[in-house]
Amino acid sequence: MSARRPWPAAAVRLLACPVCGGPLDARPDDAGLRCPAGHSFDRARQGHVTLLPPGHVPPSGDSAAMVADRVAFLAAGHYAGVTRALGDAVTAGDDGPPGALLDLGGGTGQHLAGVLDRLPGAVGVVLDSSRYAARRAAGAHPRALAVVGDTWARLPVRDAAVDRVLVVFAPRNGAETARVLRPGGRLVVVTPAADHLAELVGPLGLLSVDPDKARRLSATLDPHLRPVAAAAHREELELDHAAVTTLVGMGPHARHLTPEGLAAAVARLPEGTAVTVSVELSTWARQG
Ligand SMILES: C[S@@+](CC[C@H](N)C(=O)[O-])C[C@H]1O[C@@H](n2cnc3c(N)ncnc32)[C@H](O)[C@@H]1O
Repeated sequence: MSARRPWPAAAVRLLACPVCGGPLDARPDDAGLRCPAGHSFDRARQGHVTLLPPGHVPPSGDSAAMVADRVAFLAAGHYAGVTRALGDAVTAGDDGPPGALLDLGGGTGQHLAGVLDRLPGAVGVVLDSSRYAARRAAGAHPRALAVVGDTWARLPVRDAAVDRVLVVFAPRNGAETARVLRPGGRLVVVTPAADHLAELVGPLGLLSVDPDKARRLSATLDPHLRPVAAAAHREELELDHAAVTTLVGMGPHARHLTPEGLAAAVARLPEGTAVTVSVELSTWARQG
């Protein structure tokens, strides 16, 4: 993963200055980004760039340990079915193949990379508040660019620039998503269904899915976006103890369990545990 890998120019053209909102351009040798007003942002050694409003402290996002577990779990292909279902939702629609994607809370960039592989002409931006995630996302795909940013702040993205916004198990910002989508563009949200990881919830003391999740999702997006399609993806994985441990470690559960407690609970599971992956995919269009 070279820090000097060229940034995809079409992805740079999606970005806006977090200070003044002006367009950002790559500095010579892709050493960073600069806007016409002179605000400048250095490229990190790992290849990503931080684009936050002045003085804005984002939520820390996933820790180094959570990101390491996410890298391991996704690299093993356990969520390949989720990536495929996401790609199906992103490429559905009657507006032609999308060319510009933004993955909010995109983590390691693995899902975006899978979708970009299906769209040979497209570029993408992965935005995440975790610098550990952004470091990984910087090397996820040659047509993707990684940004440390905050979904809850003004996004460092130009108005009406993006064909698809993706949000997979991450926070949504309806107003900002509507601002950055071009007319006819779509938001695709992936959320856990009620039976997601059901076999692990009791034995491992995991957080269960909020039954009111769908209504809350609607409430945050409705004023800015309207639902246009819905789909579901469900499959059964067979996971060994190591895979179960990384699955738990990469998620929100990681903060609620001690490593010893988790290890003891995992040891009581059969080696080769059936685990249901069950997600809902909802697609939204800009209002008006
Ligand atoms: C459960 S992970 C999902 C990551 C990725 N979408 C995936 O499915 O592999 C949630 C991600 O959202 C990020 N995140 C949390 N709050 C955020 C915020 N306010 N802005 C941007 N990213 C955020 C975390 O750092 C983490 O990478």
